[in-house]
Order: sequence, then structure tokens, then C-alpha cells
Amino acid sequence: MKVLANDGISQSGINVLQDAGFEVNTTTVAQEQLVNYINENAIDVILVRSATTVRKELIDACPGIKIIGRGGVGMDNIDVDYARKKGINVINTPAASSHSVAELVFAHLFGLARYLHNANRDMPLEGDSRFKDLKKAYAKGTELKGKTIGIFGFGRIGQATAKVAIGAGMNVIAYDPFIEKADLELSFFDGQKLNFNIKTISKEDVLKQSDFITLHVPAQKDYVIGKSEFEMMRDGVILVNAARGGVIDEIALVESISSGKVARAALDVFEKEPQPEIQLLMNPALSLTPHTGAATNEAQDRIGTELASQIIDILK
Ligand SMILES: NC(=O)c1ccc[n+]([C@@H]2O[C@H](COP(=O)([O-])OP(=O)(O)OC[C@H]3O[C@@H](n4cnc5c(N)ncnc54)[C@H](O)[C@@H]3O)[C@@H](O)[C@H]2O)c1
Repeated sequence: MKVLANDGISQSGINVLQDAGFEVNTTTVAQEQLVNYINENAIDVILVRSATTVRKELIDACPGIKIIGRGGVGMDNIDVDYARKKGINVINTPAASSHSVAELVFAHLFGLARYLHNANRDMPLEGDSRFKDLKKAYAKGTELKGKTIGIFGFGRIGQATAKVAIGAGMNVIAYDPFIEKADLELSFFDGQKLNFNIKTISKEDVLKQSDFITLHVPAQKDYVIGKSEFEMMRDGVILVNAARGGVIDEIALVESISSGKVARAALDVFEKEPQPEIQLLMNPALSLTPHTGAATNEAQDRIGTELASQIIDILK
């Protein structure tokens, strides 16, 4: 059996597959050459992350494919229903990266609260000539402890983010039209466990009460945060989008930064990937990462080994 991991797979995943007798190919084949490559090399399993797309045309043109696997959560780059109707197994690893994304959210939040995104840009250029000016410019930081974080989308990543927030001493509120409440168990280094029961509240209440807002919703037709949602937020709110490009209206975001409604924000995902708008890239109020929410060694290991064991379960 042959597996093509077109967007890569962790060594731990390769090891599990090879031990089970699979041949694993990690060549990155260009999208337009993928059909030929799959057919010529008799590939049984195609694994992708977010870069490679597996659309209807590819599915029709590659009848040998038995499994399509997505390392990670969203499967918007795969025609899932179509593939399943044709009897192909479509698998993913929905929980593997939740904690990594939650930690990236907090990397941005701690950074934004203390202007690290600006200081890291300015210090290499002016750290020796304008040290005192920079010290003054970044003197008005805030602590996260005791502040309210509003979580939009209280699924896997939203809940993982809530746990980190609780650990940081924050007050957690959440909005999710499909989840009424969640039981969160926090495990500590010494074996202690603490349980928190969080009931979701209305969208309006989350918008009005939050000092910090973070988005963990799936891609959808309309913006989840657009002009009217920005208007309801507290003045000086700090916002993070590590969900999907297109869940936040980027133009409304830039306008809300200009008006002072939004103090600062972080984006890990963009409406236009891989070429985000230059107005975002150059905006000093934004802390930016190139869609690296799930990009930790730990998450990639979990993704690789979870995909491998699902493939083995299906094909062996
Ligand atoms: N930045 C990254 O690298 C990265 C990595 C992994 C996942 N993600 C993205 O994170 C998002 C969340 O992933 P997850 O695993 O937590 O998914 P999930 O399905 O577990 O949770 C999403 C939650 O959002 C809720 N929701 C849907 N529409 C909503 C709305 N309009 N308002 C509020 N809540 C709404 C759903 O009810 C669900 O509970 C997805 O968009 C996923 O693609 C990003």
C-alpha cells in the first residue's frame, strides 16, 4: 500500500505506517501534476494539510484512491461529501492541534498586551539610538490576569483556549450558538485536577463584556465579526483571529483600528492566503503569523500518528 503525504507528515507518523508495511512518499507534487503522479505511482492514500486541494475532478480522475486524509481540522480543501459518496474514506485529526492553537493565541495576547510585536520590530533598528523613547512608547502595557476574554466558538480549540485563559487568571465568557455549556477539566503538574463549568452567553453580551476576543469558529458564508459586531465591542479591545480567513471582515478590522475601537489585534489566518493584504502586513497595530496555529512539533506528531493509526485501522 502506498501513501502520498503531499504536504508532509511527521517522522513519528511515517514510522507507524512503515512498521505496518506501508510505503510512505513525502514528495510534494504540484497540484496540476497530482492526478498523473497518483495514477502512475498507484497511490492508495493521499494525505494533505491545507496546501493541496482534493476536488471532485481529482477524485474522479484517480479511481485507485481509497483514503483521503487531512492532517488537522478544517476540510474545506477536500470535496468530502463527494468523496464519501464514491466510497472513499475521508479522515482527519480534529483534536490533535487544539492546544497548539490555544497557545499561539496566548503568544499573541501576551505579546499584544505588552507591545512585543512593535518592540521586536523597533529594537533591532533603534534599540541603541532611541532606547529611552522606546521604553516610554511601550510603557502602558496591560496584564491579562483579571481581564475578561470572550471566546467565539466554544468547540475544541475554543475550550482549549479557555483552559489556558483560566490558567492565566482570566475571566472566561463564550458564545456558541450550538453549545450551551462545557465542562472543562484542568490538569496540573502535581496531579491535581480542577473542573470548570462554563455556560455560553449571547453574542451581544460577549461582544460588550470582553477586554480580549478570540475567534474559534469554522469557515462560513458570512463574516462572524463584521462592522456591526465591531461597533458593539468595548473601546480598546484586543482581538485574535486564529480560526479561518474570512470569519472576520478585514476592512472593518482596519477601520476599527483607525477609529481606536480596536487597540490591537493578531491574525494567524487571512482572507487572502498566501498573499495577505499589504494594509494588514504593514499595520503596526497587528501581530502577525503565517497560519502557524497548529505548527508545533507536538501537534505534528499527534497529527501524524493519529492519521497513521486511522489508515491502518481502515486498510489492514
Ligand atoms: N490557525 C490554525 O493553524 C488552525 C489550526 C487548527 C484549526 N483552525 C481553525 O480553528 C477553528 C475551530 O476549530 P475547532 O477544532 O475548535 O472546531 P470545532 O468544530 O470543535 O468548534 C467550532 C465551534 O464553533 C461554533 N460556531 C459555528 N459557527 C459559529 C458562530 N457563527 N459563532 C460562534 N460559534 C460558532 C460551533 O458550534 C463549534 O462549537 C476552525 O475554523 C479551524 O479551521 C485553525
